[in-house]
Amino acid sequence: QKTGFIFDLDGVIVDTAKYHYLAWKKLANELGFEFTHEQNELFKGVSRKRCLEILLDIGQVEATQEQFDRWMIEKNEDYLAYIEKMDASEILPDVPKVLQFLKERNVPIALGSASKNARPILEKVQLLSYFDVLVDGNSVTKAKPDPEVFLIGADKLGVAPEHCVVFEDAVAGIAAANHANMLSIGIGNADVLSEAKFIFKDFTEISLEFLEGLLS
Ligand code: BG6
Ligand code: MG
Repeated sequence: QKTGFIFDLDGVIVDTAKYHYLAWKKLANELGFEFTHEQNELFKGVSRKRCLEILLDIGQVEATQEQFDRWMIEKNEDYLAYIEKMDASEILPDVPKVLQFLKERNVPIALGSASKNARPILEKVQLLSYFDVLVDGNSVTKAKPDPEVFLIGADKLGVAPEHCVVFEDAVAGIAAANHANMLSIGIGNADVLSEAKFIFKDFTEISLEFLEGLLS
């Protein structure tokens, strides 16, 4: 049975969480309240729409449908301005090493992201060619922690869910991988990602022997 690998994007392949944060913070400030780094943790892996709902809750702001739609667009335009200049220097450490290792062994690789901006980001950082399958915010209906995004990924890779490995930096993403019956690997803070099967600070801590072990 072959193993498939599924990577989250934001916070796993590139550190775009900081740009999401800046764009949400700008909107919060315009609406007259603060938005902290701690609050931003709740936004990781969560859809744009759900993020705005949480943001408005934090600021106790009531919005009409028209305002809500406008703020969604405004946040995304600010975010797009931040990511416009992204290049390969913003790939997180050792990500290319891992992708290259898997590619050389013909391991099928998917992206499983909540973001609707996933494809242009992969293009900008020049990693698109590593991915056999892209599942992003444009193709899912149920957000993480629902397993949908990863189950679609496994299906498109032609790999059984229980033979898939998922890299995630978000609590919601680890939960989604676990719900999908996949092997979850947390990338980031062990306190936050305690539900993951394995946890690493970043890819520099993952040895090729460890990856090799996941393939057999
Ligand atoms: C996830 C991020 O990958 O994508 C979330 O972790 C973000 O913070 C979500 O809200 C949606 O992204 P986008 O680019 O479609 O607004
Ligand atoms: Mg993420």
